[in-house]
Amino acid sequence: DGQPDIGDNAINRPLDRVRVDDTGRELTTNQGVPVADNQNSLKAGLRGPTLMEDFILREKITHFDHERIPERVVHARGSAAHGYFESYEDLRGLTRAAPFAAAGKRTPVFVRFSTVAGERGSADTVRDVRGFAVKFYTDDGNWDLVGNNIPVFFIQDAMKFPDLIHSVKPEPHNGMPQAASAHDTFWDFASLSPEIAHMLLWHTSDRAIPRSYRMMQGFGVHTFRLVNDKGESVFCKFHWTPLAGTHSLVWDEAARLAGADPDYHRRDLWEAIDSGQFPEYELGLQIFTEEQAAQFPFDILDPTKIVPEEMVAVRPVGKLVLDRNPDNFFAETEQVAFCAAHVVPGIDFTNDPLLQGRIHSYIDTQISRLGGANFHEIPINTPVAQIHNNQRDGIHRQQINRGRVSYEPNSLAGGCPFQAGARGFVSVPEVSQGREVRGKPELFADHYSQARLFWISQSVTEQRHIINAFRFELTRVHTPAVRRRVLALLANIDAALVAGVADGLGMEVPPPLPLATDRPQYDYPASPSLSLFAR
Ligand code: HEM
Repeated sequence: DGQPDIGDNAINRPLDRVRVDDTGRELTTNQGVPVADNQNSLKAGLRGPTLMEDFILREKITHFDHERIPERVVHARGSAAHGYFESYEDLRGLTRAAPFAAAGKRTPVFVRFSTVAGERGSADTVRDVRGFAVKFYTDDGNWDLVGNNIPVFFIQDAMKFPDLIHSVKPEPHNGMPQAASAHDTFWDFASLSPEIAHMLLWHTSDRAIPRSYRMMQGFGVHTFRLVNDKGESVFCKFHWTPLAGTHSLVWDEAARLAGADPDYHRRDLWEAIDSGQFPEYELGLQIFTEEQAAQFPFDILDPTKIVPEEMVAVRPVGKLVLDRNPDNFFAETEQVAFCAAHVVPGIDFTNDPLLQGRIHSYIDTQISRLGGANFHEIPINTPVAQIHNNQRDGIHRQQINRGRVSYEPNSLAGGCPFQAGARGFVSVPEVSQGREVRGKPELFADHYSQARLFWISQSVTEQRHIINAFRFELTRVHTPAVRRRVLALLANIDAALVAGVADGLGMEVPPPLPLATDRPQYDYPASPSLSLFAR
């Protein structure tokens, strides 16, 4: 039928229904009416006014007028690809999540990489965190592992997310600057939020200027749970590691590319897949028990902390292969809706207060970005698993639900659709206790130990890059008190680091910021697994 050969990947089933091939076809309106002349509008005489009656012109212009949708409030700039995840082994002892049910089992995926702060048309190679969002179209519904290329985050609680993002985005009065972090507002916020210390070092490191989407790691960041069919659960951190190795640009390359080729990462991903050089990433799990977690010198609910690989090894469990470019950027890459709340039986959340806020945020924003409550019916978002429930109506509803019953329990439709019971998603019955309170556990207040661990784990070259990045960013900060506070924060991490940055700014090293806790900071040994070039 003239359709391109796009393979037998299961996600093609929903997408096939809407794929369009115009080869050898007549031009029509959206109502399917053949268009005789697509060059000239209908006029009262050749030099006369255009007629209201020209429904063909009006439909064409009206559709054009409404082509743009709001960009994502964060991660607006992205590039995506189709592929599959293949499990190395049967992991049913650990999790009932369908992708891990058998060795060699393949699950279709759609993956979107992104920058965080820039707008939809911004440059790819800026210093920023990169998103690494994976939608698994599993037998039991969609599981989205919405991760980043850096294993920790800026803040510990969702309450601070709008403030963080407002500080990073262009300033509201003049819409400048577009550069992700080189401005007063971000560094003002950072210097007043010492929990950011660990992330700041990753953010000024070479990790924040990856060479290619094919050459960067991905992390789930939060601690999750894996749950098996007996209801037994363990904690889990998710890691993606590119088989091509983890590589970065150097700053001068990144800065030059941002001007000369703003699509550098997008083009690289597209061309690699187009030429059959399929990007591959290994999924690794760090698995640990509640008892182990209780012994760690950090809180596993704190997203500003890693679990060092020396404490819990990363176990390789499967491979992600990206083997097909999207057919249409808007339909797929722009309209895909990832959501941290999309888990499937076998995966569960923890009480990480950042993750808890994310569970709310994604669907909420997508209702406005994608227009209404039915965006799960946009083909790229539709699960391969079937949808049966009593949700009805809403703007742009596609599904034609039949019958008189749209409630449950019912007797008139034989009780259908019926609850899945133990086959369905069951939350881990965690014990919660305590009074309602706003605050943080004490271990969350150790802001500097892991920042120091990151610093001492870097090679001399990598450390120099970090110092240079702080110098570059802070020379663009015009408020001296903000620069001084950043130096005072760095003074809690390492003397050579703060001295190097202060020297570059022509400033004295100030006294360190007061610590947020009397508890001694934990003294980690250097971790070779954190060094970029050790991989
Ligand atoms: C995108 C909120 C933290 C990774 C988004 C979007 C929102 C959001 C509103 C736009 C979604 C859309 O329009 O489709 C939040 C909130 C956070 C948070 C409230 C903290 C409370 C994080 C963290 C990570 C992350 C910790 C990484 C682990 C991503 C990624 C995307 C995204 C990868 C882009 C997904 C895509 O490619 O479409 N986030 N986020 N976010 N977020 Fe977060």
